[in-house]
Amino acid sequence: MTELVHTRKELAAARDGMKGTVGVVMTMGALHSGHETLLRAAREQADHVIVTIFVNPLQFGPNEDFDRYPRTLDGDLEVCRRAGADVVFAPSVAEMYPDGQPRVRVNPGQLGEDLEGQSRPGFFHGVLTVVLKLLQLTRPDLAFFGEKDYQQLTLVRRMARDLDVPVAVVGVPTVREPDGLALSSRNRYLSAPERQAALSLSAALRAGVAAAKQGRDAGAVLAAAHRAFDSGTPGAQLDYLVLTDPDLEPGPVTGPARLLIAAWVGTTRLIDNAAIQLAPQS
Ligand code: PAJ
Repeated sequence: MTELVHTRKELAAARDGMKGTVGVVMTMGALHSGHETLLRAAREQADHVIVTIFVNPLQFGPNEDFDRYPRTLDGDLEVCRRAGADVVFAPSVAEMYPDGQPRVRVNPGQLGEDLEGQSRPGFFHGVLTVVLKLLQLTRPDLAFFGEKDYQQLTLVRRMARDLDVPVAVVGVPTVREPDGLALSSRNRYLSAPERQAALSLSAALRAGVAAAKQGRDAGAVLAAAHRAFDSGTPGAQLDYLVLTDPDLEPGPVTGPARLLIAAWVGTTRLIDNAAIQLAPQS
């Protein structure tokens, strides 16, 4: 049985009834199989599962897609039921922000200004603020986040560590379409030709992974990824393609690394990333 609640009061009552461990999966709805994989991981690892569905206005810029972001609560509930969620918390904006925009927000530090933060100023302040609020409201033992949003996962981990939030953050591998495209709620904005152009992102990552497997160094891995991106179906505009430390720390990259990409396809901004294992250089 999946219980749908909209208020903090209802959520608190449902949470108080939970004995054993609690896992939370936070989402903005428009659930797809990527989200469902997070729900199933939570179902396997925790005694109770809470899913939150909230399109958080704080993490959208003035020219971003807050108004047109897909809202599909009925379908989402079906996914939550299928995956065995105990509680779905779907608050209104007024329920989450009763005093309007919060004056105090979580500061993500320098990492919040890099990569996604460069193109989306204030984005991670908004993300971490709502994530911290939802952690306080749901009080989980485990919180599941997708590797698809790798910088977000890294920052949530950092926040839990730096601010002593008593939760274990669990990363879940990216779920992809058979042709490599990472599942995203924003994929539904893509026209058929844009959908084809969007494959340039995963193609770039695959080329980078393959080059690393052949023992190539960081520069060559990045160059291979760039070449693959450029030779994909035209229509994707690169924002960034970087090879970094797996914790997104600055400095030279050796051994385990992460390749991250962001690109515009028409008016849709897409991101993706992959683990890279660099061979030791002689
Ligand atoms: P949303 O984009 O709905 O994603 C919710 C969770 O699902 C995130 O942890 C995200 O990384 C994960 N996810 C999305 N696509 C995935 C895929 N293809 N494979 C695996 N996991 C995937 O991320 C957010 O919402 C918001 O920023 C949120 C954390 C809810 C704060 O508002």
